[in-house]
Amino acid sequence: MLLWKSDGCKTCKGRCKGRVKPVLLKIGGSVLTDKGRECTFNMQNIRRIAGEIARASVPIVIVHGAGSFGHPQAKKHHIQQNPDTEGLVKTHRAVLELNTVFVETLQEEGVAAIGVHPLNCLLAKRGIVKQWGVEIIKRLVDFGVTPVIHGDVVVDTIDGISVISGDRILTYLAKTLDVAVIGAGTVVDGVLDKNEKTIPHITPSNFKDVSDYIGGSTGDDVTGGMRGKVLELLKLAESGIESVIFNANLNNMVFNFLSGEAIPATRISGAE
Ligand code: IPE
Repeated sequence: MLLWKSDGCKTCKGRCKGRVKPVLLKIGGSVLTDKGRECTFNMQNIRRIAGEIARASVPIVIVHGAGSFGHPQAKKHHIQQNPDTEGLVKTHRAVLELNTVFVETLQEEGVAAIGVHPLNCLLAKRGIVKQWGVEIIKRLVDFGVTPVIHGDVVVDTIDGISVISGDRILTYLAKTLDVAVIGAGTVVDGVLDKNEKTIPHITPSNFKDVSDYIGGSTGDDVTGGMRGKVLELLKLAESGIESVIFNANLNNMVFNFLSGEAIPATRISGAE
């Protein structure tokens, strides 16, 4: 059984000028970095995932998290409580470094990847996107480009500066771009129950039953962990946009997800 089905051609790698809905793919910071060691890449995963994305034949918009490039700096400089210019500069520099390495690796694998930096183009209100002209992203995708956007520190109309997570960016893009499906690549096989088994399907009606197992932020994570992610994706499911949480730490999972193959994962949708 297919996990989801693209309405597009299999050969043009997204260059079919806007006729095929893009897949919105989030890769968590813990997949791309070693979360235990500040500013440490997981180059093996970055290279492997870039290769899997290069092999896929759907247009893709990528969003990635910060992992050890961003969370430790945001925490150290109390960005959430008392933001200052030093914290802004250091946190942005860290996420930018991760984005640059990921984008360059994608390019080396043959993907026309371009980094898009929220600090330069997005206005937030209390950590939620308030204003962002995503037409540029739409047109880049139509042109055959794979935009690579990241969690970032951004200008905030109330707080001066705030952290915007990859999941918040995902929510906004899902609502404003017409996407086929959302994929969230994490370091676990989806959302796990109390016996560490994957919960195959979460809907607004069964969320209450599974809610207790889903953990929030741990360690240096400043943006909400798995619980935050599921809550964001459930809101989207209610407006008809489906998503899949899967394990991007394992070989071929990103490629299989992008191909619509059934993989061990949690699907989040509006209906049973
Ligand atoms: C956080 O982004 C951005 C900053 C801390 C600046 P995410 O919240 O999306 O990062 P991960 O995926 O949890 O690492």
